[in-house]
Amino acid sequence: MKWLLGLGFAVSLAAADPAVLEKGKAEEKRACVACHGLRIVHVQRLTRAQWDRELTKMAGWGSPIKDREALLEYLVANFGDDKPVAPLPRSEDASNQKR
Ligand code: HEC
Repeated sequence: MKWLLGLGFAVSLAAADPAVLEKGKAEEKRACVACHGLRIVHVQRLTRAQWDRELTKMAGWGSPIKDREALLEYLVANFGDDKPVAPLPRSEDASNQKR
């Protein structure tokens, strides 16, 4: 069973591969902007399982995801639940910025 642990380690190393993240970013640009902007994506802070479900949901609605693995790695690496909370977006009249 020890080899399984090794495999998991290899997979997590591959996850940080900049080439994979770059591919994931390109995939996001291709598959995720037809219906909404990317802000709704980038303000999220989700676990891997949650991003995985999110991709299933968007694919079900018609997102033409091809390189799902790279996209998932990119989302987890940049918008994982271990990342600091996204800055509050400005409302149209910036009234949410006043105290
Ligand atoms: C076919 C249209 C469509 C495409 C393409 C699409 N989305 Fe969405 N997405 C939606 C709609 C509609 C909503 C808002 C509905 C809702 O509130 O669940 C949404 C909402 C979201 C949200 C906010 C949380 C949520 O579930 O509502 C996230 C995150 C998201 N999309 C990510 C993505 C990603 C990542 C991609 C690319 C893989 C993508 N979307 C591509 C239609 C799409």
